Amino acid sequence: MSETCDLIVIGAGPGGYVAAIRAAQLGLKTIVVEKGPNLGGTCLNVGCIPSKALLHSTHLLEMARGGLAGHGIRCGGAVEVDLDAMMARKQRIVTQLTGGIDFLFKKNKVTRLRGLATLTATDTVTVLDDAGVRHQLQGKNILIATGSVPAALPGVPFDGQRVVSSTEALAFSQVPGRLAIIGAGVIGLELGSVWRRLGSAVTVIEFTDNVLPGMDGELRKQAARIFKKQGLQLRLSTSAEAMEVRGDEVALTLKPAVGEPESLVVDKVLVAVGRVACTQSLGLEGLGIALDGRGFIPVDGNYRTVVPGILAIGDVIGGPMLAHKAEEEGVCAVERLVGQGGNVHWNRIPGVVYTDPEIAAVGRTEESLNKEGIAYRVGKFPFSANSRGRAVDQTEGWVKLLADADTDQILGAHIIGPQAGDLIAEVVLAMESDLTAEDMARTCHAHPSLAEAVKEAALAVDGRALHV
Ligand code: NAI
Repeated sequence: MSETCDLIVIGAGPGGYVAAIRAAQLGLKTIVVEKGPNLGGTCLNVGCIPSKALLHSTHLLEMARGGLAGHGIRCGGAVEVDLDAMMARKQRIVTQLTGGIDFLFKKNKVTRLRGLATLTATDTVTVLDDAGVRHQLQGKNILIATGSVPAALPGVPFDGQRVVSSTEALAFSQVPGRLAIIGAGVIGLELGSVWRRLGSAVTVIEFTDNVLPGMDGELRKQAARIFKKQGLQLRLSTSAEAMEVRGDEVALTLKPAVGEPESLVVDKVLVAVGRVACTQSLGLEGLGIALDGRGFIPVDGNYRTVVPGILAIGDVIGGPMLAHKAEEEGVCAVERLVGQGGNVHWNRIPGVVYTDPEIAAVGRTEESLNKEGIAYRVGKFPFSANSRGRAVDQTEGWVKLLADADTDQILGAHIIGPQAGDLIAEVVLAMESDLTAEDMARTCHAHPSLAEAVKEAALAVDGRALHV
């Protein structure tokens, strides 16, 4: 096949597929090349969506195993888990959603081509399909949206069986008795929660001095307290240095910041130490596109690489490695191609950890403001004083807003508590609209709602919270 089009998108994750749909809406003849069998990339196939499906199923398990008792609901006999059925449900959701993208492509007349893409000229992509056939595509523009893959740890290589990445840890066929997770980041805590709820003894090994490095310090402390209480074994200030597979077991060598190295023997090891940009096979060197020191593709403010017709968005260009960030960049990049488009501010991208309670953040932390000497005011409100939180029995956590001491503009928000991932949206909108804490405090919020905790935190910035 040899085809010519306006835009070739390489990669059909949330960045690429959304960019393709938007490009088609704008009248660009668009072809998407995806090497995998399904559209949707990591997020839909082996990331956000399957993990949220398992987090929800296992949350219901915890409720059935005791959480419902406080509501006066008794479940009777022993609560059993059918792991195959749980995994099948997860897979059905993935299949429905990836199929949904196929539908959207047809509806928007986006052409899909399966195969491995290589850029062979500044306007040409060669695609090698599964049957070994090469296809030549020519595009006025090419958008690279190839995402990222799990980073391996030196001394602890993946074997897909005992030492695995999140992909395999979303599909274990049996509950591991002992599971070690290297990295107390987002994946470590989400999948650690899933397997702990299913019965694994989970040890999370984290190199820094607390969980979720980079997030607000107070939130990190509270989160660690909660996860410990829930039964995660946290080994902080400790790195995993080496491992040895011994039959059915894996012996990890742990090196604490203080003290002697020790051995931890487990059934499986999940390595969740971050992700690296997926740029192999693209042929970038041949076109003079050099990666930066961290392996990302450098782009300008219009997402153009050093070759003007070749653009890149999402995980491959760095910044927060999040589906929603890639989506925004995909839309922004193609809109700019036709002279439209806004901006994507990396410091206004919300981050959410879908544990129980949820954790969500946007913007500046107190630590980063202090480091730069920016004066700010803090407004904090606990869910224990929120009536809806009481009614739904979710009183753990708080909302913290940070506002500029001079202008009152919202600089950041940190939420640990029920529906934090939804509550943060209001703050992101406020930040994108340059609103002040006073604006938020004077906005009517429905009662009784969890969102009232956000309003109360805004009031608290000025020392006027009403319910504490
Ligand atoms: P991460 O960057 O969130 O966390 C990695 C952790 O591993 C860090 O805490 C780091 O200090 C630690 N670490 C690194 N080397 C270590 C060593 N040798 N020993 C012990 N600890 C070590 O990366 P993660 O969790 O793998 O996630 C990858 C990406 O996927 C992230 O960018 C994340 O934002 C994204 N993601 C987002 C989700 C969401 O939005 N809910 C869900 C899952 C992943």
